Amino acid sequence: MKDNDNNLEKIKLGIFGDSSVGKTYFSRKYVNDINLESSLSTIGIEYLTINKVLSNGEKYTIYIYDTAGQEKYRSLSLNSLRHCDGVILMYDITNKKTFDSISEWIKNIYEKKDEDYPLVLIGNKCDLKDERIISKEEGIEMAEKYKTTYFETSAKEGINIEKPIEELINKIIKNKEENKKKTNIGNNIKLDARKNIQKNNQKKSCC
Ligand code: GTP
Repeated sequence: MKDNDNNLEKIKLGIFGDSSVGKTYFSRKYVNDINLESSLSTIGIEYLTINKVLSNGEKYTIYIYDTAGQEKYRSLSLNSLRHCDGVILMYDITNKKTFDSISEWIKNIYEKKDEDYPLVLIGNKCDLKDERIISKEEGIEMAEKYKTTYFETSAKEGINIEKPIEELINKIIKNKEENKKKTNIGNNIKLDARKNIQKNNQKKSCC
């Protein structure tokens, strides 16, 4: 890492979904962790980091909070949302239960975050063509229901790993800019109100 890499803007992503959908495989593939065969069920939360140049030419330090999908860790996993600028929701296209759980994950997230919170939906394990149970159309429909974007990936075969993260980062950057604008507008309104009060007070003291 070059010295000035320490000053890169940080983007923090969470990855959520039921146990065994492939969250750890996907995260490790993205950060080029070669130690994939050692993947065990995640206990609590792990985070991985990498510096990346995105297709817009900008370089960021990306943190991925890889959460545990097991039910017993759910509230701990959801607690990590406080660190995250946006999330990836993942299911396994060969496992209907993991697909059905997505609505529950989204409900849990919206209990802590606003509805404009950046997220993307991934159907993982697309290499297992013969075992597919959830069609691509069903994935797209689910994404549309929650006004987000759908991707199919294979963490194992390294298919489509970069695109969902870039899409999520773009949503995060847009969201941050909009929030900044809203804060600026709010601050300007407060400033105008303060000026008006001062003016009125001056008028009163003149008379
Ligand atoms: P938890 O840590 O329990 O929440 O699970 P996880 O979602 O992190 O799953 P993990 O990445 O540990 O993957 C579970 C299993 O699914 C692994 O043994 C992998 O072999 C397998 N797997 C992950 N991604 C893929 C994929 O894209 N294709 C196939 N065929 N198998 C995958």
